[in-house]
Amino acid sequence: MKKLRSQEWFGRKGRDGFLYRSWMKNQGWPGDLFDGRPVIGICNTWSELTPCNAHFRELAECVKRGVWEAGGFPLEFPVMSLGETQLRPTAMLFRNLASMDVEESIRGNPIDGVVLLMGCDKTTPSLLMGAASCDLPTIGLSGGPMLSGKFHGHDLGSGTGLWQMTDQVRTGEMKVEEFVEAESCMHRSKGHCMTMGTASTMANMVEALGMSLPGNAAIPAVDARRNTLAQATGRRIVQMVREDLCISRILTREAFENAIRANAAIGGSTNAVIHLIAIAGRVGVPLVLDDFDRLGSSLPCLVDIQPSGKHLMEDFFYAGGLPAVLRELGEAGVLNREAVTVNGQPMWNNVAAAPCWNRDVIRRFTEPFKAGAGIAVLRGNLAPDGAVIKPSAASPHLLQHTGRAVVFETIEEFHARIDDETLDIDETCVMVLKNCGPRGYPGMAEVGNMLLPQKVLRKGVTDMVRISDARMSGTAYGTVVLHASPEAAAGGPLALVCSGDMITLDVPKRLLRLEVDENVLAARRAKWTPPRLPDRGWLKLYVEHVQQADKGADLDFLVGRSGARVARDSH
Ligand code: FES
Repeated sequence: MKKLRSQEWFGRKGRDGFLYRSWMKNQGWPGDLFDGRPVIGICNTWSELTPCNAHFRELAECVKRGVWEAGGFPLEFPVMSLGETQLRPTAMLFRNLASMDVEESIRGNPIDGVVLLMGCDKTTPSLLMGAASCDLPTIGLSGGPMLSGKFHGHDLGSGTGLWQMTDQVRTGEMKVEEFVEAESCMHRSKGHCMTMGTASTMANMVEALGMSLPGNAAIPAVDARRNTLAQATGRRIVQMVREDLCISRILTREAFENAIRANAAIGGSTNAVIHLIAIAGRVGVPLVLDDFDRLGSSLPCLVDIQPSGKHLMEDFFYAGGLPAVLRELGEAGVLNREAVTVNGQPMWNNVAAAPCWNRDVIRRFTEPFKAGAGIAVLRGNLAPDGAVIKPSAASPHLLQHTGRAVVFETIEEFHARIDDETLDIDETCVMVLKNCGPRGYPGMAEVGNMLLPQKVLRKGVTDMVRISDARMSGTAYGTVVLHASPEAAAGGPLALVCSGDMITLDVPKRLLRLEVDENVLAARRAKWTPPRLPDRGWLKLYVEHVQQADKGADLDFLVGRSGARVARDSH
């Protein structure tokens, strides 16, 4: 085994060695623990303000059991935790900040290998990004989804059920008292959102990338097997240190291709596009927006799960979880079978015999739930650097549509006007929302799935074409074009759209076109003024350096990795 990095601290003699060991001994650690055991950092996003990760102290204890068993020395440390539902203005504003916390916490401390405890949406990419920039042996462990929501005899999915009930309350189909009652019925156990929202999607991405032990994505948070997996993860990271199996050997181009295909097969969130590109950027793997369309869009969705289908993550687990899906992809010849995973095995060894127990939930590749359902990348004069749509969650009749634009300059204007009965809008219109991209919001909020106007809902219409530079929750659905790049606040063409313009969406042709003469657009551009941007603190740093959505919305100076070497090494 190569010399342990932690020995650069604990293995020293004299004053420095005293300093590094003595203060740690105030926790009661015996002196022999500092003599050359692999030190395993457990990177914990526990927080009572991140309810999806509130059980992570218990999970960390299970990881520690495994680390001790394997002869390691576990040390748990906290990092910035991003709770999707509580953090304003949007958790995404802080994904890159949290990744810097993770990167510097790993690099600056006497750690040989890392276990990443991830759950709520942004906690997964932020930890993977930070760890990738350090490039130590690293293993992921997700916190697991909540049990299925149950309300009035039916399943009730995180987020997805909320969007549906919100419309029902607005149209009078549901009483406000029932809506309040549903609060306790939707989220009734520890864990993260149990639809195929961003948290579940990213947990699946962790597993598809080979960054976790098999089965990580779907085991419910409350299932005893989640704790068993945590213990096995603790055992395994010690071995990974001994094998010097660094994260850059797992996060290869082949691994990202597997993740893109898996995302199509599970009907995963559009947010995965941004996060995977950002993670790849940190580890130096070339990955571009068009890879998602080229590799994933023709693939079928195999999993019948909300928001694209009807089941929930608990059902997905009982049906076999991601290994059953990856087996289907492998047998269809669209899986990089040799991609190395954290257990040291090629991906195919992990999933080749994976069983499927319920074909209603996980379909065969040859008899899919939805065909051609992976994320599509659109281009045209409205999004020269690309925009994305999730066809599996869209209405088929709207995938080719030309309509009159109804423009909202900001999300506040949208909220103020959308239910105004005098608003000139009907179901054939195209709703356009500006200034909600990485710089414009700032932070690229999940507001792209704009609510439909009440007067349209009352006709029984449930979907309209919506276009923005925003993201949308992975639990959301509809014919929603997102991530238009460059964004309006950066002077992208979206900034030039006016109400009354005609817009063409043609998903089969991958087209998003503003039907306005170039001369007219040039005149509008000459009058356009950029919005005032924040002038202090994190917001200032963020807006000055954030890249556009097609580049993963990482900060420009964070792309790449500098490894685990500490710049200066003495006190
Ligand atoms: Fe945390 Fe959905 S709010 S995973």
